[in-house]
Amino acid sequence: MKVVTKLGVNIDHVATVRQARKAIEPDPVAAAVLAELAGAHGITVHIRSDRRHIQGRDLELLRATIKTRLNVEMAATPEMTDIALRIAPDTVTLVPETSEEITTEGGLNLIQQVASVELFLEKMSRSDIEVSLFIDPDRSQIEMAAELGVQAIELNTSAYAETSPLGLAEWDNAFQSELGKLIESSAFAADRGLRVLAGHGLTYRNVAPVSSITEVEELNIGHNLICRAVLVGIEQAVKEMLKAMNTLTG
Ligand code: PXP
Repeated sequence: MKVVTKLGVNIDHVATVRQARKAIEPDPVAAAVLAELAGAHGITVHIRSDRRHIQGRDLELLRATIKTRLNVEMAATPEMTDIALRIAPDTVTLVPETSEEITTEGGLNLIQQVASVELFLEKMSRSDIEVSLFIDPDRSQIEMAAELGVQAIELNTSAYAETSPLGLAEWDNAFQSELGKLIESSAFAADRGLRVLAGHGLTYRNVAPVSSITEVEELNIGHNLICRAVLVGIEQAVKEMLKAMNTLTG
């Protein structure tokens, strides 16, 4: 039987609500503490160059406060390199970033972006920071990630999520095909010594087939969990997600 799949709670959208009014609450740091108390295995935030949700102050307070693991998503830019070295999160997940996007669109293209990723990795090489790369479930990207020598990858589940039928009662071909890509890519990556994480677009309804993939150690989940937290509270939302993730694995 598979060991329990870990949950990294992405609290960006707690900060989104705060920034909608440029107010002081809700505080993502408080959300992180409550998420940890409810059983989250880690806290994830995305520091964007436009600072639309998470701010520098959040990173500093999260680093000093949380007791699990801090994963910071960022683009491989000189500004973000300095932030990573200053904050020293447990993990940095490199993601592609454009100012027009509503959320991260697709994984990194490691073939096109190899120079900036290599430079980032070189700057991290003397630190204890684990580097993970957010990539699509694609063999050539996984091979490139292994060649670059990173410790982990996060497989982009957005194509899977977009094809998930409501309730998963009628699994259609597109859904099966996207799930198949995640299963195959997870095994391919683990064979190459990479730790496998996954995330993006996961919900209470579609999470179980992904969390039950043997090699997937951890999922990063934000929007859908925070949506539920607005209505039922973040502790309950985290507990329900942990349950939804681990129903198929027992
Ligand atoms: N993983 C990565 C790399 C992301 O950029 C995001 C969104 O910030 C997530 C996971 C979480 O996605 P969602 O908010 O759809 O759960």
